[in-house]
Amino acid sequence: MKILITGGAGFIGSHVVRRMVTRYPEYQIFNLDALTYAGNLENLLDVENYPNYHFIKGDITDQDFISQLFEKYRFDGVIHLAAESHVDRSISDPLAFAKTNVLGTMILLNAFKALWNNNWGGKRFYHVSTDEVYGTLGETGLFTEKTPYSPNSPYSASKASSDHFVRAYGETYGLPYVISNCSNNYGPNHFPEKLIPLFLNNIIENKALPVYGDGNYTRDWLFVKDHARAIDLVFHKGSTGDTYNIGGFNEWKNIDLVKLLCKIMDRKLNRNEGSSEQLITNVKDRPGHDFRYAIDASKIKNELGWEPSVTFEEGLEQTVDWYMENEEWLKRVTSGAYQEYYNKQYR
Ligand code: NAD
Ligand code: DAU
Repeated sequence: MKILITGGAGFIGSHVVRRMVTRYPEYQIFNLDALTYAGNLENLLDVENYPNYHFIKGDITDQDFISQLFEKYRFDGVIHLAAESHVDRSISDPLAFAKTNVLGTMILLNAFKALWNNNWGGKRFYHVSTDEVYGTLGETGLFTEKTPYSPNSPYSASKASSDHFVRAYGETYGLPYVISNCSNNYGPNHFPEKLIPLFLNNIIENKALPVYGDGNYTRDWLFVKDHARAIDLVFHKGSTGDTYNIGGFNEWKNIDLVKLLCKIMDRKLNRNEGSSEQLITNVKDRPGHDFRYAIDASKIKNELGWEPSVTFEEGLEQTVDWYMENEEWLKRVTSGAYQEYYNKQYR
């Protein structure tokens, strides 16, 4: 079995690659990644010499390259994670999101279809998506697989569009797909432009913690290794043509989460209790900021027996320890181009 994992050098992708390479020695795992600012092969140093692991540098929007790649390796399965993934960047450069997330997904679908059309036995295209496609919730309610799509940011619109194309290829050409829509992930190897790693880094560096608006926005947090476990399960056991919501049953208002991070970091850094909280700064809100995301993950729980294995306390502790033990990784990814982005975003 040859499996192509796209975006495997990124945050979630690297955890998926590691899991698949180490758990399934009988599979050949191909990690295709363009190594954008968010992709980092350092995330996979521990598996790079496994005989069943292969890295390919390449861009999913390069049509000729992708069709030649599929003809050469004849992948039986695709787990598609490559994407532009940061909402704030999508606000400043929406076209880049349409290109990678929509066009890139279509180019992969076309290549898979060209290879296996009318000969689909045992083949599978797994599209990894987000809960943001559903838009926003008010104070109550949960996103289910039946919640209508209502994306609000260019990022979520591009992911919603890619989900629609995947479904459409299933309906029109019989392409055997499965989709999952997951809530906010956190954990090791998270690029420090997203809330948790950005704030951990800023606390270490004694820099301001820029909380958007009043901080009452709510997210449902899931430990990245539990997401990788769910992806493994959905890839192997999910029903073809179906969608699964994945979430942490773990809602936090941003401001409460930030205060918890401050408390943990004061302890880890031997600082006086309350000192990190003084770094909290309310800044201009994100335009079109979704108020609340929360996932009803009962379908994947009931059908596939998945639920989070790590509590938020355990997951955060592991995450904080990883960032403190990997300061060099953090320093390397926060130099150069990252500094330009940071100054522009938070000037
Ligand atoms: P990430 O930004 O950390 O990684 C994305 C990876 O894709 C990077 O390695 C990057 O180099 C690669 N990439 C980008 N453009 C590419 C291109 N044109 N060709 C080839 N590779 C390219 O993202 P992430 O947070 O790991 O998210 C992975 C997937 O999971 C995305 O599809 C995202 O929408 C989805 N998702 C993320 C979260 C989350 O909380 N991070 C939650 C739900 C779903
Ligand atoms: O819900 C799943 C999505 O979660 C994924 O599809 C995205 O790829 C992922 O980036 C994430 O999107 P969010 O926009 O929710 O994540 P982010 O970490 O950017 O922000 C989390 C919350 O924190 C959000 O309400 C905005 C707020 N925030 C974020 C940053 C970066 C701040 O208050 N200040 C900040 O500096």
